[in-house]
Amino acid sequence: MSTPPLTLWRGARLATMCPGAPWGLIDDGALLVEGDTLRWVGAEHALPPALARQAEHDISLDGALVTPGLIDCHTHLVYGGHRATEFELRLQGASYDEIARAGGGIRSTVTATRVATDALLYKLAAQRARTLMAEGVTTIEIKSGYGLSAEHEARCLRVARRLGRELPLTVRCTSLGAHAVPHEYTGRPDDYIDAVCDWLTMQHGEGLVDAVDAFCDHIAFTPAQTRRIFEAARRLGLPIKLHAEQLSNQHGAALAAEFGALSADHLEHLDDAGIAAMAKAGTVAVLLPGAFYFLRETRLPPTPELRAAGVPIAIASDHNPGSSPGLSLLLMLNMACTLFRMTPEEALAGVTVHAAQALGLAQTHGRLQAGRQADFVVWDLAAPNELAYWFGRNPCRRIVRAGVEIEST
Ligand code: NIG
Ligand code: FE
Repeated sequence: MSTPPLTLWRGARLATMCPGAPWGLIDDGALLVEGDTLRWVGAEHALPPALARQAEHDISLDGALVTPGLIDCHTHLVYGGHRATEFELRLQGASYDEIARAGGGIRSTVTATRVATDALLYKLAAQRARTLMAEGVTTIEIKSGYGLSAEHEARCLRVARRLGRELPLTVRCTSLGAHAVPHEYTGRPDDYIDAVCDWLTMQHGEGLVDAVDAFCDHIAFTPAQTRRIFEAARRLGLPIKLHAEQLSNQHGAALAAEFGALSADHLEHLDDAGIAAMAKAGTVAVLLPGAFYFLRETRLPPTPELRAAGVPIAIASDHNPGSSPGLSLLLMLNMACTLFRMTPEEALAGVTVHAAQALGLAQTHGRLQAGRQADFVVWDLAAPNELAYWFGRNPCRRIVRAGVEIEST
């Protein structure tokens, strides 16, 4: 059996995100890539000469910064239409809750998604994915949640799976049928939850689901309804995530932690008991500064308390047409620092090592470390704290995903 060719990338400033030094920094670093895997990572002078000799390609980076491929661990990328008119209404004083209760919000995107063809949904989602990828994103999570029927939820998940097959991108698919009550179930949310649990079995049977999510809030589903979704996920052996404590405190994060959730996301209204439960369960806190900013929220997530409790914190775009239409994960790094008072190093951990954990990819992604998938980004930057500093500029120079350089997105 022939071994795949080895490529040596040398002369790099590696922010490995491995424990030990701040940023896991290695100056004059080298990466040896074998097939889709990092074979060796370290200081160039320590590279065994026998290994170096095996390299078929030798690429020098002249001191450029290299990080793991970025991971956007919370997106709603597949949908039709947009909600710019609702944005205008909110600017004139209407609240996000009022618009949702009046039948706008998620439900209006459901209408636009149901009438869109598969080809259009794919085209729109692929454009969005490519915009994220241009800034060094090599892994994304994509949620359903704008179909809200057996047929349309499955259609959206198939579009997400297709993105993972056709783009040089690792895609994790999350089923979010419990995003809102569709109009045909108005006044019957418990019947709707029964239906969502049935669909999950079908979606899982078709290999469309990597995790299950729900929106637990006063304008969405109750903790009791959320629990039923989690029980269905558990019966199928699927990991769970939760939109929790975004607009009110429903104690959703503690419920998610009880089920060993990969993550609880948003968390502006999280309390101490929720933080303690997440810390105990190893549940990642996914903070979403784009939604906080775009909804002009004022209540901050409890960053210092999460930090003090040792809860891993991830950052994501939450890209969706209602609360976060942004497509720049680098801007989210900047906002995580300016709005949520994270450090630039915490912010980068939030889109690498902790984002990997939030997707159940803690052993294979998120760090520059031998044995992991060879996903990395070469930046036109000298220091890693610049990643959170610049905004409105794309300093991404080269992207390698699963050992293959991406030519252009
Ligand atoms: O993550 N909070 C629930 N879901 C989305 C927003 C959905 C929408 O407004 O379309 C979020 O912010
Ligand atoms: Fe979301």
